[in-house]
Amino acid sequence: MNPFGPLPKPELHRHLEGSLRLRSLFDIARAEQLTLPAPTAEHFRTLVQVRQHEPFTAENFLSKFRVLRLFYRSPEIIQRLTAEVIADAAADNIRYLELRFTPVALTRARGFSLYEVMDWVTTSATEAARRHGIVLRLIVSVNRHEPPGLAAEVAELAASFRPRGVVGLDLAGDESRYPAAPFAPIFREARAAGLHITVHAGEWGPASNVVEAIEALHAERIGHGIRVLEDPNAVALARERGVVFEVCPTSNYQSGVVPSLEAHPLPKMLAAGLRVTLNTDDPSISGIDLSHEFALAHEKLGLSREALWECTATALDAAFLSTPRREAVVNAFRKAWQG
Ligand code: ADE
Ligand code: ZN
Repeated sequence: MNPFGPLPKPELHRHLEGSLRLRSLFDIARAEQLTLPAPTAEHFRTLVQVRQHEPFTAENFLSKFRVLRLFYRSPEIIQRLTAEVIADAAADNIRYLELRFTPVALTRARGFSLYEVMDWVTTSATEAARRHGIVLRLIVSVNRHEPPGLAAEVAELAASFRPRGVVGLDLAGDESRYPAAPFAPIFREARAAGLHITVHAGEWGPASNVVEAIEALHAERIGHGIRVLEDPNAVALARERGVVFEVCPTSNYQSGVVPSLEAHPLPKMLAAGLRVTLNTDDPSISGIDLSHEFALAHEKLGLSREALWECTATALDAAFLSTPRREAVVNAFRKAWQG
C-alpha cells in the first residue's frame, strides 16, 4: 500500500485536460461516434496516455492534448469530465487543489464561446469540490503557441471570474519555440486585476526562460522550472524573490526532460535552497496520481517523510489563498501529517 495515500495532500499544478478518466473518454468516443485511429481499447489508450514504448518527448506529450480537444462536445460532457476530475483528486486525498484549465482548448470541438466553457467548468468544479469536501481554487491557462490576442481575451474573462473561484493565470504550451515576452502586457493587466501568476518555464526550455518568467511576467510560481539549476544566477534570482517551483517528476520523465526518474533534480533543487512543491501535471496522461509522485520522491529520490512535509507546507504557503483561509487549511494538514 502507498503510505502517502491516506495523508492529505495539496496540489498546485494539475491540468483539467490532462486529468480525464480514460473510461469516460472511451464512452464519449463511442457515444459521439468520434472517428479515431483506435480499433481497440489499447490503441485508444495510446491516443490519450503516454505509454512505455512511446518516444518520451515534448511533442508526443503535447500530441495527447490535441486528441483530447475532440472530446469537449457538449456542456454535459465538459461538466461531467470536470466533476470526475475533482472526484478523483478527492479519492487521492488531495484536500487542497488548484486545478488549471485551458478555456481555448474546451471551445474548439463545437465552437463554444470562452464565456460558456468557463461558466460550465467553474460551476461544475465548485459544486463537485463542495460535494467532496475539498478546498478548490481555479487557474486559467493560456498557451504560448497560440495567439497573444486570444490570450488577452481569456485573461480578461479570467479576471471577471474571480468571484467564481478563479485565482490565477498560467502560461503553458511549447516553451522551446515560443517566448513569454509577447504575453507580458497581458500578464501585467491580469496582475493588476488581482490574479496570481504562474508560468511554465525551464521545462522544455533553458534557465533563461525561468528568468524571463520572473522578470517579464512577474511569476510568483514556476511550473516545473527544473532547468533553473543550469544557471547559478537564475537560482539566485529565484531564491531572492522567493519563487516557488511546481515540480512534476513523472511528467518530466515522460516528456524527455530527464533521462530517468532517478536522475530527477528535485533533491538538488531542495539542496540549492529553492522552494519546491510536488505535483502531477497531467495524472491521466501519465497514468499516475499525486500519492504516486510522493512515493516516487520518497523511494527513488530519497526524500524523507519530513522533506515531503516540507514540500507540502511550501505548497500551502504558496497557495493562491487568502490568509485566514490558508491558516485553516495548514492547521488541518499539520494535524494529519504530524499526528
Ligand atoms: N500543458 C499541459 N502540460 C504541459 C506541460 N507539461 N508543459 C507545458 N504545457 C503544458
Ligand atoms: Zn503543466
